[in-house]
Amino acid sequence: MTQTAHFQPAGPLQGSVPAPPDKSISHRAALVAAMHDEPVLVHNYLDAADTNSTAAALRTLGAVVEMRPDGLLVRGTGLRGLDGVGETIDVGNSGTLMRLLPGWLASQPTGSWTLDGDASIRRRPVDRIARPLSMMGARLEATDGHFPPFVVHAGRLRGIEYVQPQASGQVKSCVLLAGLQAEGDTRIVEPARSRDHTERMLLRAGVRIWRDGPAVNVCAADELGLDAIEVPGDLSSAAFLIAAGLIVPGSHVVLEEVGVNWTRTGFLRVAERMGAAIEGDLEQPPLGDEIPLLEPVSDIDVSAGPLSGTTVESYEVPLTIDELPLVALLGCFAEGETVVRGADELRVKESDRIQAVVDGLRGLGGEIEATEDGFAVTGTGGLRGGVLDSQGDHRLAMLGAVAGLASEEGVRVIGIDVAAVSYPQFREHLGTLA
Ligand code: S3P
Repeated sequence: MTQTAHFQPAGPLQGSVPAPPDKSISHRAALVAAMHDEPVLVHNYLDAADTNSTAAALRTLGAVVEMRPDGLLVRGTGLRGLDGVGETIDVGNSGTLMRLLPGWLASQPTGSWTLDGDASIRRRPVDRIARPLSMMGARLEATDGHFPPFVVHAGRLRGIEYVQPQASGQVKSCVLLAGLQAEGDTRIVEPARSRDHTERMLLRAGVRIWRDGPAVNVCAADELGLDAIEVPGDLSSAAFLIAAGLIVPGSHVVLEEVGVNWTRTGFLRVAERMGAAIEGDLEQPPLGDEIPLLEPVSDIDVSAGPLSGTTVESYEVPLTIDELPLVALLGCFAEGETVVRGADELRVKESDRIQAVVDGLRGLGGEIEATEDGFAVTGTGGLRGGVLDSQGDHRLAMLGAVAGLASEEGVRVIGIDVAAVSYPQFREHLGTLA
C-alpha cells in the first residue's frame, strides 16, 4: 500500500548514524557466495527489498540461504551446479539482479530460466546485457525483443572482447560473471570507469582478473575461494543524509563506516567542488592498472554551508550515477547554475530519473530544466516545498524527504514506503539526526 509522509522543515541536524550495508556489494556478495562449493558467510548483508530478492532468487536456484545475526550464510551450488527446468525467478524491483544473474545462468552447462519483476522492471530494457551475452554464444528471449520477462538459456560460452557503448557497472559485471565459465579470456573495454566491486571481489576469490588501461580481463575459473565477504556501508544511501547535512542550515552530521571505493565517491567530489565541507579518508584512484583487493571504509563528516553551482561531465557520471538526483537538489540550494551532462542512462533507472527529478523538484519550487542527457538547475538558494510523488522510485522518495527538511514549507512525499527497496532505516536515521 502506498504510504504518504510529511517532512517538516527541520532545525540543524546533529549526530552520527551508521551507513546501511551497500546494496551493490550485497547483491554481488550473495551471487558470488552461491558460486562457491563451500558455505560463505556474507557479513553485514543488506536486509532490504532489493537484496532480499537476490536471496530469494538464489533459493529458487537451489542454494540454501539463511539470514543469521552475523550475516547471510549461503550454501551454494558451485560455479556450474545449476540446472534450471524453466523456473521463474522474481527479481522484484532490482535492476542489478536482473542484469547480473543472467551472466551466471547463461554459462551453465544446461537449463533455462525466466526472469521477471515488478512493473518498473518490466519497463527496463535488457538489450544491454543481451548483446554481449549473445556475442558469447548465449541465447536470451526477451518480451517484444527488449523487455522482461525474458528467458535465459544455458549454453557453452566463448570469451569475447566487448567494447561497451556506455559505461555500466551492471553490464560489466554480467559479462565478467559469464566470463568465469567461457572458453578463452573475456575482455571488456569501458568508455569511462564504472564501479569495480565485482573485479575486487573476484580477485579476492582467487580469479585471474586484471586491468589494462580502459579494459578488464577475466579468465575462466574452476572454483572460487572465499569463506567470508564483508559488506561496507552504502555511500549511495548515506548520500541522502550527507545532502541533508549540507543543506539544512547549521547542521553537522557524521555517517559511520561508509564504503569509499573511489569508483563510488563521485558525489562527494562534486559536492566538494560546490563548496561543501566534507571530511573523510576517501580512497584515491590507483596510479596504475592495479585492481585494489579491499573495499575501504571511512566515517564521513559534513557541515552545512554555502554552495555554488557546478558542471558534472560525462566521465564523472558513472561514478555519481545514483546520486545525480541529489546533485540536482544541492543545485537548487546553490548559487548559480548546476548542469549534468551525459547522463541519459538515468532515463532507464527505476523511473525515468531525469523526468522524475525535474518534475519532482519543480513541484517544490525548483528552477530545473530537463535536457536530453541530464538537467540544468538555476539555484535560488532554497526550495518552497509542496508534494513530491516518488513514482515507485526509492531514490526519489528519499530525495523528497531530504528536500522537505531543508524547505520553507515542508514536503509531502507520496510513496515514501519504497525507500525500503534500498534503505529500510532511512526515516529512523533521519529522525536520529533531526
Ligand atoms: C549498479 C550500477 C549502476 C547503478 C545501480 C547499481 C551496480 O548502474 O545505477 O543502482 O550494482 O552495478 P549502471 O552502472 O549499470 O548504470
